[in-house]
Amino acid sequence: MSGRSHRRLVLPGPVEVRRELLEVQANGLIGHRTAEFAELYARIQEGLRRVFLTEQTVFAIGASGTGFWEGAARNCIRPGRRVLHCVGGSFGERWRMVSQANGCAVDSIVVEWGQAHTVAMVADALDRGEYDALCVVHNETSTGVINPLREICELLRDRPDTLLLVDCVSSALGAELRVDEWGIDVALTSSQKCFGLSPGLAFAAVSEAALARAREIAVRGYYFDFLELARYGQRHQTPSTPPVSLLFAADRQLQAVLAEGLAARWERHAALAELTQRWALARGFGLFAEEGARSPTVTAVDNRERGIDVMALVAFARRRGYEIDPGYGKIKGKTFRIAHMGDLTIAEMEAVLAVYDEFLQQS
Ligand SMILES: Cc1ncc(COP(=O)(O)O)c(C=O)c1O
Repeated sequence: MSGRSHRRLVLPGPVEVRRELLEVQANGLIGHRTAEFAELYARIQEGLRRVFLTEQTVFAIGASGTGFWEGAARNCIRPGRRVLHCVGGSFGERWRMVSQANGCAVDSIVVEWGQAHTVAMVADALDRGEYDALCVVHNETSTGVINPLREICELLRDRPDTLLLVDCVSSALGAELRVDEWGIDVALTSSQKCFGLSPGLAFAAVSEAALARAREIAVRGYYFDFLELARYGQRHQTPSTPPVSLLFAADRQLQAVLAEGLAARWERHAALAELTQRWALARGFGLFAEEGARSPTVTAVDNRERGIDVMALVAFARRRGYEIDPGYGKIKGKTFRIAHMGDLTIAEMEAVLAVYDEFLQQS
């Protein structure tokens, strides 16, 4: 250990990881071409299927969620075809940029930061173009907006040529998500948010339709080639060396998460969000996300009225042993984000909010 004193992470990723999981990571390694590894990976695949509520293909690889943005562009958008991106914050913008960087022709439905995408605007845009895929950020972490994903999914039921690609980086395990029932073709996420794990793993659920699309595309790149990942996955392996230590922790955490129960976990996140929203309103702050679209995993507190010094707040929290967020991108300072994702309990959240209160009282 570095001897550094640990500050508890209350960030919208990376989140605090339970000590038990960190200890599992330090348990020594196994070779990844062994039967023992295949058993581990098979359990993780099964756990992920249960988490994503899918019976189709799942991946767990050494990467961050961004990697599967690239994978989605390479495997799901045919050369020369268009993709439609819903953009309403930093991560929507960045995903669009990754699609462009991979040569995709991109159209976007842009909403003001703090607003959600409506079903009507997505339906209208789908009617006006032919798209290989629609990309939706389920939970826009920069603005604290959750999009009406289930309803948007409905729009694609009678559009089989348009795949539905969903970034659920800050929603998977923190908000309701039903991959098969809702007809999602790619659901991609990262380990360091609601999964409560260390950064370094990217998870995805990929439909048969998405794999069929990949088969139509000759040049799919290498590291994120869905067909190779699926081929190795059938043998409970990964094409290249996986981060075995992180997978040990993922295995343990998937068991814990499933023991908590998906619905219970979603409800706990909703209760944490409600507590945080009430706290903010009672202190004279606003809520940046429009009503009806407020995220269960991260609250963007609107600081424009009160105008507190967010960097002083962050410094104060550090002295109290917490690492908190000063806001993100172009709304940093105008907003600050209170994260309530992962394994956080209501009692822990109350302790965090007490630190915010202490700062407000002394400033
Ligand atoms: C909604 C969303 N999408 C994508 C990302 C990028 O994920 P990663 O940092 O794991 O690549 C983030 C990171 O915060 C995010 O919040």
